[in-house]
Amino acid sequence: MHQLNIKHLLSIQDLSEADLMGIINLAKTFENINEQHVKKVPILKGRTIVNLFFENSTRTRVSFEIAGKRLSADTINISGSASSTSKGETIVDTAKNLMAMNPDVIVVRHNKSGAPALMAKAVTASIVNAGDGTHEHPTQALLDCATILRHKKKLQGLQVAIVGDIDHSRVARSNILALSKLGAKVRLCGPVGLVPESLKRIGGDLTESSVSIHHELASAIDGVDVVMMLRIQNERMGAESPRFANTREYSRYFGLSNRTVSAAKSDAIVMHPGPLNRGVEIMPDIADSGRSVILEQVKLGVAVRMAVLYLLGGGNASE
Ligand code: NCD
Repeated sequence: MHQLNIKHLLSIQDLSEADLMGIINLAKTFENINEQHVKKVPILKGRTIVNLFFENSTRTRVSFEIAGKRLSADTINISGSASSTSKGETIVDTAKNLMAMNPDVIVVRHNKSGAPALMAKAVTASIVNAGDGTHEHPTQALLDCATILRHKKKLQGLQVAIVGDIDHSRVARSNILALSKLGAKVRLCGPVGLVPESLKRIGGDLTESSVSIHHELASAIDGVDVVMMLRIQNERMGAESPRFANTREYSRYFGLSNRTVSAAKSDAIVMHPGPLNRGVEIMPDIADSGRSVILEQVKLGVAVRMAVLYLLGGGNASE
């Protein structure tokens, strides 16, 4: 089995191509546990996982909790509003206090980019980044790559369009890196204000040559194998000047529907990390169509997180 030589999962930058494939392949072996009548194996028995979510989440939080429980770890969930940071405690102090209770893994979601990395410096447990600000969401990219591989069998040479509010998206950043490392070509598409040219360089020479920038939906998805739609993240825009005209116009030019998707390959799959804003970036006729793999992403997410928790949580498959 592939071993990771990292202690924390903070960024896709820290993973090699072999690491990415190692996690995805291990996830495959965990998938059948999720289909069994008794959905549990004892390989993380006696391990403690804390899920510390300072930002709203449905899918990711439940997915990590289920993943930990199905591997028999003791999982504890804390939400930001229920934690002492709402009383003024710093995240480093929170981390040190949690550490005094000796957890093996702390899964963190935070609205500040870099918060999980800060915590990683303060604790001996493994930190897993479950989404930090606009920075990264590594397990989402892993489950997205696993879903694409399931349908397309390879990533090398595949054309993947990511459409939407790229600038505020940690999902986009992690996917740009993961897809590029695995040999796919990435087309980023959205209004000029939401797709800065600088994103081409987040992975240095690698992404400079694999990523292209587009501001027109039809040309961006022309002939692609995968269309990944993203939500407009209004909550990250603050009071700055508007990045796009308005929602109605956005939807008209960048919304994916059964009609607009026709520029993509006829067997192209449609993805979305959720939550969906139906009628804005994605129309129900395509979100609920046979091309949509959105719920499959969620399903594979559990297996991918099982693999990550197993590899970082010091699991023992022979137990
Ligand atoms: C995303 C996130 O929180 O980064 N959702 C997710 O984790 N599945 C995307 C989003 O919030 O739009």
